[in-house]
Amino acid sequence: MQRIPLIQRRWTANHSGSMPLSGPLMDSFGRTHRSLRVSVTDRCNLRCTYCMPEEASFLPEKHLLSGRQMGEVVAVGVALGLDKIRLTGGEPLLRRDLVDIVHQLGQIRGIRDLSLTTNGILLRDLARPLRLAGLHRLTISLDTLNEGTFSRLSRRPGLDRVLEGIAAAKNAGFQGTKINAVILKGINETEIIPLADFARENNLALRFIESMPIGADPWDRQAMVSGPEIKKILEDMWGPLIPVPEQNPHAPAMDFHFADRPGRIGLIMSVTHPFCGQCDRLRLTADGKLRNCLFSLQETDLRDCLGSVTDTTGLTLRFRQSVWDKWEGHEINSARFLKPNRTMHAIGG
Ligand code: 5AD
Ligand code: SF4
Repeated sequence: MQRIPLIQRRWTANHSGSMPLSGPLMDSFGRTHRSLRVSVTDRCNLRCTYCMPEEASFLPEKHLLSGRQMGEVVAVGVALGLDKIRLTGGEPLLRRDLVDIVHQLGQIRGIRDLSLTTNGILLRDLARPLRLAGLHRLTISLDTLNEGTFSRLSRRPGLDRVLEGIAAAKNAGFQGTKINAVILKGINETEIIPLADFARENNLALRFIESMPIGADPWDRQAMVSGPEIKKILEDMWGPLIPVPEQNPHAPAMDFHFADRPGRIGLIMSVTHPFCGQCDRLRLTADGKLRNCLFSLQETDLRDCLGSVTDTTGLTLRFRQSVWDKWEGHEINSARFLKPNRTMHAIGG
């Protein structure tokens, strides 16, 4: 019997049709792509255990795209119908020219939503400049309100600075700020209720994310606290959570409101309730690789297409081909799942 290499046994694109050369960015399963997450650096000032190893190695600075090159890629993506741009890292606030990058992207017509995900450590001083530069929205990672647990999870201290950062975001006028929390068994399960209280008191949209197999250590499914388990903990405390009627089908979070009290909760259940069927996301790594899925095993290098403002044919084709080659889904729950070589910090959250 012929042995089929592992990589071919995974879902592949549905190559029965032919790649469209006009219109929006469509994959072979009919999913139109509207969202691009741009990693501006793979460096981070924390070392969250679920995301990266303690001894991480980072890209040499000269391999990073310049702000101008990012602008070039984003402008072509926007011309192809992308309208949601999120800046990520590593930790994007470590990038010294971040405010300039935001300003530059803010000039591109057609971006409906320009947002950024940060761990909040450097946000106190940067919230206002980022707002003034044209950033629309912020997502801040916060897994605990306890400094001991924070240091254990992130392998660095800094909870106070994150809380100052969250306050600064509010003072700078950001609205609709989101908080992302990853919950791990035996580490921060007891933080679910305090985080929900904190979010309600501060008018923040809290989302719990199931821990995914994209970190440095071997993934332990048993250590993941699933969305349904988190929902039950919240309901045992405060009564039923009801799905909100106006769900965004492309948003990874399923949103709930409490039946008997104010406050909303989002659950991002990438493992127990994969949402690949509605995925509209692409990713650009800090070194200029386009990825059509967080879990992609292949990526498309864009660097050699950069530098010509007048001829964008090369970039356009690579965008189209990458989207067309997208597989159906990540298969975390199957024996065929293969972890990508890059860990989360080097892809962009
Ligand atoms: N599983 C789930 N979420 C993760 N993040 C980082 N690593 C993982 C993982 N293994 C999330 C963080 C942060 C964002 C940048 O990515 O919670 O909010
Ligand atoms: Fe840094 Fe974010 Fe990864 Fe934590 S999750 S190590 S804050 S990039």
